[in-house]
Amino acid sequence: MSATTTITETVQVQRESKANPLDVGRLRLDGTDNTFGDFRDDLARDGFAVVKGAIPRERALKYAGDMHSWLEGFDLGYDRNDLSTVHKDRLPIINEKGMCLHYGVTHENFVWEIRSEPGVVSAFEKVYNDNDLIVSFDAINFGFPNRTDLPPNKPWPHQDQDPAKPGFRCLQGLVNLLPNGPDDGGLIVCRGGHLLSEDFHRDMADEERIPAWTPEWYGFTERGMKWLADHGGFWEKVCAEPGDLLLWDSRTPHYNLSSKTQQPRFAIYTCYMPVADATQDDLLRKKDAFERRVGTTHWPNAKHTGSNIAKRDEQDCPYNRLRPVNEPVLSERAFKLTGIPYIVD
Ligand SMILES: [Fe+2]
Repeated sequence: MSATTTITETVQVQRESKANPLDVGRLRLDGTDNTFGDFRDDLARDGFAVVKGAIPRERALKYAGDMHSWLEGFDLGYDRNDLSTVHKDRLPIINEKGMCLHYGVTHENFVWEIRSEPGVVSAFEKVYNDNDLIVSFDAINFGFPNRTDLPPNKPWPHQDQDPAKPGFRCLQGLVNLLPNGPDDGGLIVCRGGHLLSEDFHRDMADEERIPAWTPEWYGFTERGMKWLADHGGFWEKVCAEPGDLLLWDSRTPHYNLSSKTQQPRFAIYTCYMPVADATQDDLLRKKDAFERRVGTTHWPNAKHTGSNIAKRDEQDCPYNRLRPVNEPVLSERAFKLTGIPYIVD
């Protein structure tokens, strides 16, 4: 266990963003993009893509081991080699969708190592045609099979974008760390849904909205699901190997499935945006979240920040902690992704 905060590298970064103007060279995902001969073509056509081997397989499995170690480190009886120890009494708070949000986990060193993996960051650099990016401090996902100690993981098909703000605005991502086949749980997407989004919201403008805590979330009703099916939307479980990066346009309808096998599903959400898209206030709020080691949603501009106070049986979880076990040691590239070097004094 590292007890020290060691963000050691001094960073010399130009204060003014070098980002390209928003529409030059950046994917539009509106059906008019050039072809590239790589994952960007899949993303443009389908609204999602898999970047194979964004992290080398052995390193991905090492990170999965770090996730197991983090769980075992609570000393509540969880054992990676014994699935019978998967129980909420033996684990930190993980919701039925596999999300773990508290305990400073989003700033654990292994999470930052994954966020700053060159093969992960470079995929977003290509999509935005911009190297000056910031990254979300989003949740991590422990999807264990056959959990009867939690409420069922019901499908919640949604898009993560306000219908009133159309067009491509945010690329979401997750790094998959374990073998993830058709029945092993994980991301399911509506192929081509990003290009249907504008028509959908025009046709369905009178549909009563499923309550949401933010306008940047839209849930699909039964009628909405029928509309998607009638317009060629096809739901597809995305399969992946350890180290693959899954990407999807925020407009693409999606949700996650639980594993129906004995195979757990571990993933780290990684979402980046050009720092040029964030305001100085956003960056100050993001700096504060980083320094307090709290999380954000998938939006890298930190519009919403979280807390490290998990609730267990409606009380503060007795195992709460406010700092990571292993504080992040950030490379120069990783430090830039916090957005801190772009703050103008
Ligand atoms: Fe989502």
